[in-house]
Amino acid sequence: MEQYVIKGGTPLSGNVDISGAKNAALAILAASIMTDETVTIENLPDVRDINVMLGAMQDIGAIVDRVDKHTVRINGAHIEDVAVDYEYIKKIRASYYLLGSLLGKYRSAEVALPGGCDIGSRPIDLHIKGFKALGAQVDISYGLISAKAQRLVGNHIYLDKVSVGATINIIMAAALAEGRTVIENAAKEPHVVDVANFLNSMGANIRGAGTDVIRIVGVQMLHGTEYSVIPDQIEAGTFMFAAAATHGDVMVRNVIPKHLEATTAKLLETGCEIIEYDDAIRVISRNIQLRHTQVTTLPYPGFPTDMQPQMTVVLGLAAGTSTVTESIFENRFKYVDELRRMGANIQVESNIAIISGGDRYTGARVSAPDLRAGAALVIAGLAADGISIIEDIQYIQRGYEDFEEKLAGLGAIIEKTSTEREIQKFVLKAS
Ligand code: UD1
Repeated sequence: MEQYVIKGGTPLSGNVDISGAKNAALAILAASIMTDETVTIENLPDVRDINVMLGAMQDIGAIVDRVDKHTVRINGAHIEDVAVDYEYIKKIRASYYLLGSLLGKYRSAEVALPGGCDIGSRPIDLHIKGFKALGAQVDISYGLISAKAQRLVGNHIYLDKVSVGATINIIMAAALAEGRTVIENAAKEPHVVDVANFLNSMGANIRGAGTDVIRIVGVQMLHGTEYSVIPDQIEAGTFMFAAAATHGDVMVRNVIPKHLEATTAKLLETGCEIIEYDDAIRVISRNIQLRHTQVTTLPYPGFPTDMQPQMTVVLGLAAGTSTVTESIFENRFKYVDELRRMGANIQVESNIAIISGGDRYTGARVSAPDLRAGAALVIAGLAADGISIIEDIQYIQRGYEDFEEKLAGLGAIIEKTSTEREIQKFVLKAS
């Protein structure tokens, strides 16, 4: 098992380049097999979840050619199997995007049913509602969800709750259905727009992505394309919060500042200075006393739930009492116990964290409970007095490319280790 060892207390400074958006890329990869022609995808982040998704696609017969670290060529002409194994779904829930893409292309798909996860129960009833509305028969048995249709016919679909996954899955199936589909109360996240743009570049007819009404006119077939994935706004936000927490000065490059408006707004409230450029954001937090504020997670353009733990870590260092309300997932404060071990003063009442800010964290040995909370604990370690050891970094590696290298490039004292001996060596060197 690997861990990050961190000697905290160094303000981060310099430039960091953000990779492609993991969550957009996962859906785009699933959609890439909807044509028999070859698709080239660029700006793919080199992270574990992406590699698992590529494995799932190869397993059903897609040809995957990794051109370089960030580029892949995919051909889905020879898919022999429309059944995606549990091995993949248990590693990444997003392999359920293959349900929408396979159903659209082959009118038949079978994927192991995803279970709950560390942040909540995560039902998929809205995905199913959408597939059924398009005329598919959906059956759940023996741990599998299968969707089959003689014909897929466009329909009017209202999503009772804003869901990124359901919106994308329905878009994919509807892109190759007969006639017109309207999705109401659709998710507006940047990666929904990116998937729609990708499918349109393959010949689909999808309008309105980025608003809450998406209109799709089905086409008979899709063609090959070359496409570059948008920058990862969650990775970008994570570095912005790391700059804030360490009282640093960081230029976060290769971003779309509009996608980061909620994050920027909250950092301004805490007293950070933010300078926006066309494709970069600079966060300056040197010599300031961070201030308390209130945050509620909401669907885009609200404050993202995937940035909630990182924000909480910053507020743990802000003068006064802050609150963070989690309105998307019911179980997303599990990391708070770990953060308390680093000296945080946080009470959780139902879905609200009440944070009494202190002026520092103290280094401790903690475990990453999931991807974003893991990144948040790293930020706490960077801001803490002394040495922190973050265990279970396999969660962090699911979604952050070269995390420790990028942080070290900003002056952080951080190393990836895999034995107690290596940890001791780091401690000796650092002290
Ligand atoms: C995606 C992101 C995840 C992010 C989340 C919310 C990917 C791979 N993952 O997850 O990182 O935290 O959006 O921004 O892109 N829900 C239902 N029924 C459904 C589907 C969802 O009740 O059929 C509920 C969920 O329990 C949750 C809410 O809707 O409370 C939002 O979930 P959703 O947007 O679907 O999240 P994911 O697409 O799974």
